[in-house]
Amino acid sequence: MDRTFTRAERALTGTLRVPGDKSISHRAVLFAAMAEGTSRLSGVLDSADVRATITAVSALGASVKLVPDGRGALAGTITGWGASGPQAPIGDDGLIDCGNSGTTARLLMGALAGWPVRVTLTGDASLTRRPMRRVTEPLSQVGAQFVASESGTLPVTVVGTERLKVTENVLPVASAQVKSALILAGLRAHGRTRVTEPAASRNHTELMLPAFGVPVGTDEARHDAWVDGPTSLQAIDIDIPGDPSSAAFMAAAALLVPSSEIRLAGISLNPTRMGFFRAVRRMGAHVVAAGRGAAGDGTAGQGATGCGAVGHGAAGQGIPDGHSTSGPTAAAEPVGDVHVTWSLGLHATEITPAEVPSLVDEIPALALLATQAVGTTRFTGIGELRVKESDRLTAIAEALTVLGAQVKVGEDWLEVTGPCAPRACRLDALGDHRLAMCWALAGLIADGSVTVAGYEAVETSYPTFADDLGALGYCGSQAG
Ligand code: S3P
Repeated sequence: MDRTFTRAERALTGTLRVPGDKSISHRAVLFAAMAEGTSRLSGVLDSADVRATITAVSALGASVKLVPDGRGALAGTITGWGASGPQAPIGDDGLIDCGNSGTTARLLMGALAGWPVRVTLTGDASLTRRPMRRVTEPLSQVGAQFVASESGTLPVTVVGTERLKVTENVLPVASAQVKSALILAGLRAHGRTRVTEPAASRNHTELMLPAFGVPVGTDEARHDAWVDGPTSLQAIDIDIPGDPSSAAFMAAAALLVPSSEIRLAGISLNPTRMGFFRAVRRMGAHVVAAGRGAAGDGTAGQGATGCGAVGHGAAGQGIPDGHSTSGPTAAAEPVGDVHVTWSLGLHATEITPAEVPSLVDEIPALALLATQAVGTTRFTGIGELRVKESDRLTAIAEALTVLGAQVKVGEDWLEVTGPCAPRACRLDALGDHRLAMCWALAGLIADGSVTVAGYEAVETSYPTFADDLGALGYCGSQAG
């Protein structure tokens, strides 16, 4: 499906509550399905990816009663399989379709590894191309078996075992999906399972498991996390905050369209997800975050606490960093509002390998902003972009070139030199939600309009993307 985005004729303004966080929604649904008892969930992202996890845990025996809450989210209950364990799905040859969702597939591999079940996981054309050995190899070492194609990609049959061994895993790449899969398997092993990453990836699993009654040890300096098994999860009530990655695309819109000023309300301010906001502040953007407690503690979703003063560009000021002490409670995530004001004269910055995990999903938006900044923005250590929902690195380099930007690209780096005046064009989302949103944003500043082919990819994480731009006063989007 095509959707066209024409140049924005006036500033974007207002307060927006973006949909629930995708990573946190997946985990809340899966952990509730694994737990003993009935959990109550609210604010769950209603998108294709999260529906894949909901369908999967239902097929595995959890009782899911989540319905639209009338405000764009899902709410309701999940009664978990608890001590009885997951059941292999009946019919469809025991197959579970994870759709486009890498998080569903990889976390399920870990969750199933320690149970005596045989389950085949598959996915769409994009997911069946993505690497799975990064999960199946370490899980094979602890005793689970995997039947996969030569290339190690989906479909993969998981043959779990109740005799999982413990292990110390040192991951070659920072990945929250792989880390989470190993931790979930570790819940069923006898002894300590440890995962060490080369850089800090998002820590939602480490934050949420303690709320479900499972202690998780962490050493932030060493990027280490561990669990002591065997242990089990107990049902909880959980409220999902807004998605900072979806918010980043709206923030980028406000930074592209002159005189815009928007407030992104009730998003997770988890420091492991704040890299985009820290980077745009370095570029000179006016961005201020104001915390207001933790999701699930009763304060999220209530009135704003006033982002008040709009600060200017000092690196990291007002944006939680990786060592924030005002961080999350054991129960959930730190939550707050981010106020973004269009800023004249953005300048280039360096994105280093260490910060990539904290902004990995926002690189398309950052690269587009770099086309409007003075100087050369250099991204290094971004090879993981090649194995996302598309080869994002090639796609970004090609699309920005079509738009008229000066771009250089290597195996794991990208350089964008700005500023440039983007040209009207047609860009293919390649089935990738982040690209669909990025190409749409290019239309807001193009000399004419940008047609996004395959725009429906936004269903993966942000089905209401165009509506939300409209809520901020943008009128230039239409189907076809
Ligand atoms: C996710 C982790 C990240 C991210 C993805 C969601 C998660 O992937 O890109 O969109 O929910 O754990 P990696 O684990 O591959 O880094």
